[in-house]
Amino acid sequence: MSGGDAAIATVLPDPEAVASAAADWLLERVRAAGDRPSAVCLAGGSTPQRLYELLPAPPYRDAFPWERVHWFWGDERFVPREDERSNYRMVRQALLDRAPVPEANVHPIPTSFTPREAAAAYERELRRFYGADTLDPARPLFDATLLGLGEDGHTASLFPGTAALEERARWVVAVEGVKPEPRITLTYPPLESSREAAFLVTGAGKRDIVRRVRAGADLPAARLHPVGRLRWFLDREAAPEDPR
Ligand code: 6PG
Repeated sequence: MSGGDAAIATVLPDPEAVASAAADWLLERVRAAGDRPSAVCLAGGSTPQRLYELLPAPPYRDAFPWERVHWFWGDERFVPREDERSNYRMVRQALLDRAPVPEANVHPIPTSFTPREAAAAYERELRRFYGADTLDPARPLFDATLLGLGEDGHTASLFPGTAALEERARWVVAVEGVKPEPRITLTYPPLESSREAAFLVTGAGKRDIVRRVRAGADLPAARLHPVGRLRWFLDREAAPEDPR
């Protein structure tokens, strides 16, 4: 894999265009896997919801190789699955309940037991799917990793100043005391084990953090270096270099 290539930024007119461009990208990524199973790591939060809503409808519905795509989450709020904060609930409502996704292909982060036990259980599931305990840069875990960006520079639930940023052995950890609810998050190694990763960012409120992250500031999102290609799908409001 040719990691370290400069990131590719695509600036779209508005959030709807960002969702469409990301859907096109995601389709291309899973098709590139050919006949082998592919794995998508989903972002939570609100930005990617429209992307997820597009996939069960034409033109994506009939083009997507649903039976071969496996769905994972990059992070989860440690709340019941019916809780409105749940990233799983958001994806199930937007995508999974509306598309022909085999249930065996859906790999939600557990939110029962304790946060630490849930993180350990998800790590076992990732390792089982990958088929090895060590990530090989030449054989990435994910074909496509979707990422959001918080205004503090976090991505997934890798928040500034937390121990999770330094974790290089475990693939999944619990993050407590930062948000009202505990978070379960993938650490950098599995997130970076991606043939391609893409940040989806929209809105003027994100413009400054996008500029800082892309300038290489010491922020969690700026420390993520996928083994493959990194892309940014931005709307005009979030694109810092966009002439006003
Ligand atoms: C989450 C996400 C988180 C999100 C950013 C941006 O669980 O909240 O994983 O990293 O992507 O906070 O959130 P918005 O898209 O809602 O701005």
